[in-house]
Amino acid sequence: MKRNEIPQTIVTPLLDWYHRNARILPWRENRDPYRIWISEIMLQQTRVDTVIPYYKRFLSVLPDIKSLAEVPEDELMKLWEGLGYYSRARNLQKAAKKMVDEFGGEFPRTPREVATLPGIGPYTTGAICSIAFELPTPAVDGNVLRVISRICRSDENIDDTAVRKKMTERLAAIYPETDRGDFTQSLMELGAIVCLPNGLPLCDRCPLSDQCAAHLAGCETDYPVKNEKAERKQVKMTVFLLRCNGKIAVCKREQSGLLAGLWQLPNTDTAFNQKAAEKWLAENRFSVNFIQKTPKRKHVFTHIEWQMNGYDVEVAAEDERFTWVSPEQLEQEIALPTAFRKFL
Ligand code: ADE
Repeated sequence: MKRNEIPQTIVTPLLDWYHRNARILPWRENRDPYRIWISEIMLQQTRVDTVIPYYKRFLSVLPDIKSLAEVPEDELMKLWEGLGYYSRARNLQKAAKKMVDEFGGEFPRTPREVATLPGIGPYTTGAICSIAFELPTPAVDGNVLRVISRICRSDENIDDTAVRKKMTERLAAIYPETDRGDFTQSLMELGAIVCLPNGLPLCDRCPLSDQCAAHLAGCETDYPVKNEKAERKQVKMTVFLLRCNGKIAVCKREQSGLLAGLWQLPNTDTAFNQKAAEKWLAENRFSVNFIQKTPKRKHVFTHIEWQMNGYDVEVAAEDERFTWVSPEQLEQEIALPTAFRKFL
């Protein structure tokens, strides 16, 4: 066998294992491409357990392409609130609009067309086309790269785009004639529940342990080979929970950058002690009735970490620079990212 070639002999044991062990998940109920698509986008940066309730709610409110194309953006953001990476939701809507405009409101059925949709790269194209349409199109994400790297004991760096492309091609070469969607999901499933990252994989439960080169050499955790992680940038901030007449001040974030276009609590990019906070409020012409420091909060994004001081502040007037909302509105209508919800 050529170096790094993926052995055809993994297919049958992996499919058998999947048919016996696959988790029952809501996006596995049928092969509707719309449902598969929504699940794959939600699952890109978010864990299965977190996704399930979001997924069910999203599909009950937006059951098809047309409803997604037409939903007001604020409502869409509210459905996505707490999932993070909000551009995923905006791209979903752009893609739905494109399907309405260019594909007669139907989900396109060829990989070439699917790949033209906003937010859909090679991974998602492969996942949708194999799971919904039974095409031999691999879906290679971090889980699958880990599984393959270990089976082949591959020294190739999986952060290298050319390596990912090669692994995708090698995987395409062993796709079965039937059960293609299940084969895609079996690789994802093995990566998610057996061939685990960080620490010991559960090789005693793995249907491929007798043919996994890394396991046979006792060095599973040396794989996959990847770049060192860059350190997260630490950003110190102060967040104000401004209250007046039982309402809370919110404002919109800028249209570009982190959490673009979402709502936020008023904040500054400096960590204020109480004296500095009072000075800032005075300089910004707030008439303060009451101020109290709240516990510090931290929020971790992919490349950045916010370290937030917080102040609970009652002001004398509903200032026009902000939108003042009741707690009920904040719950039901306003998409306020988790970083700020930590102060409510
Ligand atoms: N992660 C990405 N896609 C998935 C799927 N279809 N099932 C379970 N986990 C996944």
